[in-house]
Amino acid sequence: MWSYPRTLAHRGGGTLAPENTLAALRCGLAYGYRAVEFDVMLAADGVPVVVHDPELGRTVAGSGHVSDYTAAQLGAMDAGAWFGPAFAGEGVPTFDAVVSYCKAQRIWMNIEIKPAPGFDVATGETVARATREHFAQEIAAGELLPLLSSFSIEALQAAREAAPELARGWLVEQIPDGWKRQARELGVVALHCDHQQLTRALALEVKEEGLGLFCYTVNTPERASELLAWGVDGFCTDRIDLIKAGK
Ligand code: G3P
Ligand code: MG
Repeated sequence: MWSYPRTLAHRGGGTLAPENTLAALRCGLAYGYRAVEFDVMLAADGVPVVVHDPELGRTVAGSGHVSDYTAAQLGAMDAGAWFGPAFAGEGVPTFDAVVSYCKAQRIWMNIEIKPAPGFDVATGETVARATREHFAQEIAAGELLPLLSSFSIEALQAAREAAPELARGWLVEQIPDGWKRQARELGVVALHCDHQQLTRALALEVKEEGLGLFCYTVNTPERASELLAWGVDGFCTDRIDLIKAGK
């Protein structure tokens, strides 16, 4: 089942701002998006930071790996200039900073656990624990919580052990054979798949299984309508300018 928002800004602000930065979240909010997806990885000091690639160079100016630098060092790097001069100096934010911003602005979060190679268990555990600490009050009050998700089975298992009260979604590109058994074993509440690999028949099967169904990354209103008509519960988009923020 899916009790979460339907339309999420991918990586904070989609393609309208440098991904996975505080500027991206501000941009998403400016377009009315109060639901967001972002990626979390561990820095060298074990602090979770919000970034997509394990290597520097594409969005973060520099070389080497995220896991070579502390969160403070990554925060001082430039994760905005690649996108445009107006964003120069925008650092890699910590997970804590992003969650604090989202909570303050009442932005719902799909937190993608994105382990660098070899860090699956540590990343799953750390992100789940940190999320539980941030949401201790909401957990106690039975309020809506963020949804954790990951492509990494190991990270999902570690997150479950660390904070079983936090719901998880299983991210895949194509929904694989044996998905029902795997989803049950993982205890996930939703499947998150690439919309280009989804068929109407498979969408129906997922819904019949009682799971939530989430798609990435849907960039036209027409495709969004089609997927929703198939029973898809939610999706993230890079085109927050074309697709109206949903409920
Ligand atoms: O969580 C959905 C989507 O973000 C998964 O792919 O590579 O954009 O993190 P990616
Ligand atoms: Mg992601």
